[in-house]
Amino acid sequence: NSMLSWQRTAFHFQPEKNWMNDPNGPLFYKGWYHFFYQYNPNAPVWGDIVWGHAVSKDLIHWLHLPLAMVADQWYDKNGVWTGSATILHDGKIVMLYTGSTTEGVQVQNLAYPADQNDPLLVHWVKYPRNPVLVPPPGIGPNDFRDPTTAWLTSEGKWRITIGSKINKTGIALVYDTKDFINYEMLDGLLHAVPGTGMWECVDFFPVSETENNGLETSINGHGIKHVVKASLDDDRHDYYAIGTYNDRNGTWIPDRPNIDVGIGLRYDYGIYYAAKTFYDQNKKRRVLWGWIGESDSEAADVKKGWASVQSIPRTILFDKKTGTHLLQWPVEEIDSLRLKSKEFNQVRIQAGSVVPLDIDSATQLDIIAEFKIDSDALDKATGSSDASFDCVTSGGAAERGALGPFGLLVLADERLSEQTPVYFYMTKGSDGNLKTFFCNDQSRSSKASDVDKHIYGSLVPVLRGENLSIRILVDHSIIESFGQGGRTVITSRVYPTKAIHGAAKVFLFNNATELNVTASLKTWQMNSAFIQPYPNL
Ligand code: FRU
Repeated sequence: NSMLSWQRTAFHFQPEKNWMNDPNGPLFYKGWYHFFYQYNPNAPVWGDIVWGHAVSKDLIHWLHLPLAMVADQWYDKNGVWTGSATILHDGKIVMLYTGSTTEGVQVQNLAYPADQNDPLLVHWVKYPRNPVLVPPPGIGPNDFRDPTTAWLTSEGKWRITIGSKINKTGIALVYDTKDFINYEMLDGLLHAVPGTGMWECVDFFPVSETENNGLETSINGHGIKHVVKASLDDDRHDYYAIGTYNDRNGTWIPDRPNIDVGIGLRYDYGIYYAAKTFYDQNKKRRVLWGWIGESDSEAADVKKGWASVQSIPRTILFDKKTGTHLLQWPVEEIDSLRLKSKEFNQVRIQAGSVVPLDIDSATQLDIIAEFKIDSDALDKATGSSDASFDCVTSGGAAERGALGPFGLLVLADERLSEQTPVYFYMTKGSDGNLKTFFCNDQSRSSKASDVDKHIYGSLVPVLRGENLSIRILVDHSIIESFGQGGRTVITSRVYPTKAIHGAAKVFLFNNATELNVTASLKTWQMNSAFIQPYPNL
């Protein structure tokens, strides 16, 4: 449908048509990044799930390959669901994935490349005696899915975790194996959090407290913390916590029980789900992939013939400065798409004003912005009035406070009849303490009525002496926003009807009543990525 074709993204990964959901089995092998994904080859809605497959040299430009696995066995007839890759000592790859059986029972299956010499890994073989794991006693047949990448125990066995629930408690089961065929279930759980419901797509990985590189999944020891992430089936968000892993009994405890998995921090405060990391041995980094669904109606998806994109892969690191957060940042390769740039230095944005930015085209952009505020105003501001502020329940960018909102309006038309504000909002409590929130306001993103208009966002830690900073990637119908170097991230899907093509613009705004702000920015037009079928396969 050409009317909606402008909504298609230009540098985010998408199949040519139809439905996509979770990232699966990402890995780097013989010079290629491999990406598999949950895919419905028959329609732009969820169903008939098989594994799509694409390869890339740089995580930006992609070549689509034939489906890697289809639903052709009793143990995956109802769907070839989410799974993860493990690279063994000898360089061989094993894939564990969930199958939904003919009876709709969730089981774990083993698969491996038919030809380890093929760098494209085109053909996959399913282990003939699948399934290798069935739901254990006490676990529901529909509550046992999404095996992780395996890591090594100090005894030299491989260990995996699989998400589940018991009543309303989200849990992660742990299994040890020597051969990926026979498994031993540990008595204890990796972790459990009451009230969080089914844990989908659990991820578990180490982060360094001291270094700026990522860690291979089996690395453990001094100066290393471990992250547990769960995707909560009930509220559709990805939650992580940082803590301490115990190799001996396969358990993990959070550093701070009040920001535990499912009740504390999220990878992303917008639309972002079922994320999965992999260790990129090519560049010694840990890379995070996440599924970004649509927030328009299913009818609109059927009309446009496709649904969902993947996030730009993000490097993920422990934030040494806060000690509480992870840092997410678009992989450096995205910079290769940068075209014409413009700089705006020390632009003064008076309280209550909007400043247009003169950049040619604004549907494919990378923006880096830094905001300076006069500390006088912060000192003078009277506290407490909006001490209970929260982006989600606030009135959005139209609601004026003493110290916010201020930031950018992207995918906005000339008359601001459509706009998506990406902004900070500061509050001062009666105790005099400042808090900074990072928000996205979708309420005026589109004239269309069948789209999500929520306000997204959360607190973002700002340390003494830091300026406020935002990076935004704009790609037609997606806005990925990174606050304070990626401490808080928000992804929005927006569906403007006027702020499209040449009519899309960018503005600075400051809707605070008592604060003048100075902004310095650099913007780049972004090239489209090459995302095509692999030629002559
Ligand atoms: C998460 C999920 C997984 C499952 C897959 C099915 O979005 O529900 O738990 O394996 O998608 O497509």
